[in-house]
Amino acid sequence: AITPLISPSILSADFARLGEEVRAIDEAGADWIHVDVMDGHFVPNLTIGPNVVKAIRRWSDKPFDVHLMISPVDAYLEAFAEAGADIITVHPEAGPHVHRTVQAIKGLGKKAGISLNPATPAKMLDYLIDEIDLVLVMSVNPGFGGQSFISSQLRKIEAVRKMIDKTGRAIHLEVDGGVNPEIARQCVDAGADVLVAGSAAFKGGPDQYAPNIVALKGGR
Ligand code: DX5
Ligand code: ZN
Repeated sequence: AITPLISPSILSADFARLGEEVRAIDEAGADWIHVDVMDGHFVPNLTIGPNVVKAIRRWSDKPFDVHLMISPVDAYLEAFAEAGADIITVHPEAGPHVHRTVQAIKGLGKKAGISLNPATPAKMLDYLIDEIDLVLVMSVNPGFGGQSFISSQLRKIEAVRKMIDKTGRAIHLEVDGGVNPEIARQCVDAGADVLVAGSAAFKGGPDQYAPNIVALKGGR
């Protein structure tokens, strides 16, 4: 099996010390930094905006994997791009013209991701897959960290893996929600190559971040 990239979600970090937390998780071996942006409208929670992304940008050189759970989203793409996002992932449920949104992200010179909610079928990707750089399979309903992995999403990961392989392009397949070391292995077996982890990455405090990440990578 491959060793997955780990994208720790800073939603589970100590927000009072966010810059230091980003540096600590970077030094502990994070491959990417996952930033969960919520608007209290598309999802029932409020988190951070582009100003915070900009403020933490200098604390890590790793790719910023920005997961936008906001609707409408188009008006904010430029602000997140300028704040330092490298990958911008959006939900097709968040607006009527997701194809246009993907083009806008690419037009800003950023990598474009599509996130599928637990009830959204893989088929949603049919006319998007050739345009995107990443598929994010949500294995919880978006809004909060610390929820339980919805195991039906393993089938979706397998289905998306087949779609990606058919394109012959290097599209990342990322899983987000309820990922712990045991679930991580199941996700990789199903075809994922990037795993988001909030609680499992940040649990136990800074001394534990490195072992947490090693465990999520399957002990390697
Ligand atoms: C949920 C977010 C996730 C979440 C992951 O809406 O998109 O990134 O923070 O947290 P855990 O790993 O604790 O489920
Ligand atoms: Zn996320």
